[in-house]
Amino acid sequence: MPFLEVCLTPELIKLHEVEGKTIVVTDIFRAASSMVAGLATGLSKIKPVSKVSDSEEWHKKGFLRAGERNGVKISGFELGNSPFDFMDARPVTEVVMTTTNGTKAIAVAAAASQVIIGAFLNLETVANYLKENVNRDVLVICAGWKGRFSMEDTLFAGALCQLLGERFNIENDEAYAALALYEKAKDDLYGFLKNAGHAKRLRGLDFEKDIRFCLECNRFDNLTVIDKGFIVNA
Ligand code: MLT
Repeated sequence: MPFLEVCLTPELIKLHEVEGKTIVVTDIFRAASSMVAGLATGLSKIKPVSKVSDSEEWHKKGFLRAGERNGVKISGFELGNSPFDFMDARPVTEVVMTTTNGTKAIAVAAAASQVIIGAFLNLETVANYLKENVNRDVLVICAGWKGRFSMEDTLFAGALCQLLGERFNIENDEAYAALALYEKAKDDLYGFLKNAGHAKRLRGLDFEKDIRFCLECNRFDNLTVIDKGFIVNA
């Protein structure tokens, strides 16, 4: 059986093999959730970039600029990083995006054989795809916050471990820890995350609606992947 491992923050990626694996990148609050929601509701492609300045060449080609730093919309950009911004972007369907952690986590997965973007919003679709189609080792990369652990991403990793436990070998302690946390949290993700750092930060920025939305499970059924540098529906 292939292995399913969890990398709790992009800072720890040096301890894992990326090459040859299927990577699931998650950033529940909010980059991964916004990507999934946007592509489920009409966006055609999202170009992830690490630096604000990298967005300009895509903007010149007609892409909307989306992103945040520390949760706050980047000055001059058309969209922030709220899933509601992404769902309201039409008639433009192409977006270039840069965020504090999510797009950086995507960058560390560059050498993988396959990259999937996962969120609670499309949890079951991601799990079913991995169960039915993937025979190589899988690594879940949690975007975290500025290199540190974040609870919401770890809970998503735990949810995947729970759904995939019979199909993949789960042997790393990070995956066991994620699974144990998810077991404790699963009946009330919102309540469990009441004191999570980025939930508090987003609440302070008046994004309560985003927090609740990002914790909805299986609202969408699109599988979001990276194809030739763009995030698209598979
Ligand atoms: C990130 O990439 O750090 C985030 O998605 C932050 C946010 O906008 O909530």
